Amino acid sequence: MNTANARVRQEERLREVFENLLATVKDFVQHHEVTHDEYRRAVEFLCETARQGELTLLCDVFLEATVDAVESSGRMGTASSVEGPYYVPEAPVLRSPCVLPHRANEPGEPMLFHGTVRATDGTPLDGVMLDVWQADANGAYSHFDVAKEAAPYNLRARVFCDERGRFEIRTWVSAPYHIPKDGPTGGLLTALGRHPYRPAHIHVKLSHPQCLPLTTQLFYEGDPYLDSDVVGAVKAPLIVRLVKQEDPAEIRRQGLGSPFYALKYDFVLPHRTAKAA
Ligand SMILES: [Fe+2]
Repeated sequence: MNTANARVRQEERLREVFENLLATVKDFVQHHEVTHDEYRRAVEFLCETARQGELTLLCDVFLEATVDAVESSGRMGTASSVEGPYYVPEAPVLRSPCVLPHRANEPGEPMLFHGTVRATDGTPLDGVMLDVWQADANGAYSHFDVAKEAAPYNLRARVFCDERGRFEIRTWVSAPYHIPKDGPTGGLLTALGRHPYRPAHIHVKLSHPQCLPLTTQLFYEGDPYLDSDVVGAVKAPLIVRLVKQEDPAEIRRQGLGSPFYALKYDFVLPHRTAKAA
């Protein structure tokens, strides 16, 4: 499709989607008999959310999981999940096995995140990159931590797997965290009687030249927020058991002085020709 045709298609799509959105909202106003005062308060809420820099957060909390569900419908391979608002591009490039960038006194339990990446036909993939990012053991993300305790790209990296699609990434177990409580988004959640917490997770974007990219998250079995994730991003196949490793030889191999947790996951990517129906 040439550039002019692509622009025409985008404009058609915009008209179609916006007209339908407008009709849906007008029906909503009619159905709920929205008063002028309620309308003004809603507009002011959106303005205040934008003023406080929370528009992306507000949308990601309430809508991103639905967009992900629509876009990934029928997709083969590992389930996707939302990107969320805390991704930072251009993280340091490492090669597996590796340790994520960290502080000298990085808090929390050491964790080995390992596994394989294969195509849907079971073929190991050579040349896979995992873009990994996570909260620390206090639930804080580098670049977004108000206390600014961590250096840029702490617990973030783009990791190349080996030629058999295997990866071993040393990191630390992330903690559950809450989205900002004191802004408009947190205030709305409180008014709705909902908590602001996310279950602990680790984010991954996988890419390979011949495969469809995948953005997903892995969650830890037993987390208290799995059933009530504030952004609704948990999918059962993405819940994984953390297994405590106490074998002295394995502890030594990881350069550690005490037991650690292992998070094993085998990812599956569809080839680009296997695009969902
Ligand atoms: Fe997150």
